[in-house]
Amino acid sequence: MSSKLGSTVLRFDSVSSTNDVAKELAASGAIEGVCVIAREQTAGRGRQGRSWSSPPGEGLYLSLILRPNVAIAASAIITLAAAGAVAETLRLDFQTAADIKWPNDVLVRGRKICGVLVEAAIESDRLQYAVMGIGVNIAQRYFPEQIGAGATSLLLETGREIPPEDFAESLLPRLEPWYAEAISRPDHVIAKWEELSSSARDCRVCVKSSDGEVEGVTRGLSASGALIVELAAGERREIVSGEVKVRAVRIEG
Ligand code: BTN
Repeated sequence: MSSKLGSTVLRFDSVSSTNDVAKELAASGAIEGVCVIAREQTAGRGRQGRSWSSPPGEGLYLSLILRPNVAIAASAIITLAAAGAVAETLRLDFQTAADIKWPNDVLVRGRKICGVLVEAAIESDRLQYAVMGIGVNIAQRYFPEQIGAGATSLLLETGREIPPEDFAESLLPRLEPWYAEAISRPDHVIAKWEELSSSARDCRVCVKSSDGEVEGVTRGLSASGALIVELAAGERREIVSGEVKVRAVRIEG
């Protein structure tokens, strides 16, 4: 049985990255569920070496310490669960039409509102601990030029001024069952994730990864959380990492 997520919340004004703080705490023995929240990150990071814009008071910058007793491969499902819980929170608690793009981008009207970065420490092919970092754009009216029109915030979508901590209070109880299922019923996480994603099936996509670029049509997720893409010749590829660009939605056949 896991400890409650957010049973202890440690709040900071400014940190380099909440993932770094959580990792240090986990390495010195902090228990599962400990949550780190900062008002600002000076070196917030995202997937694939990118930075995560983290101006003071404008976003939720949250990292959770997890100690799931699972094999390394399960960290992919834990990442899917985090994105699923954020999308569910946006839809049910903030009446926002959130969508998910594989593996972990939460979008509203095609613009990114949240990203998830799970970083794991491994010991003989098991997860020793994982840090689940969640960044949600809450109060931004403008984004840096390089992000520009690709991003949105809760304020821009709802017109409401919601304190980042209020979003965290809604999110943590929703995350709890998603995380529990990521460990005990990964098939449920995959099914729920697919329902929340408009591009999981029958969408024409282009996927860029370190192995090159593939184009094809999405055919759902595999049992391990990989994106299944059917190429023109009918061959099915399981994509385990990369950047998905949606070219067209809902293709028949
Ligand atoms: C992405 O979409 O590339 C993932 C972005 C993850 C950002 C969050 S903010 C809290 C935590 N601390 C970080 O430095 N990154 C994650």
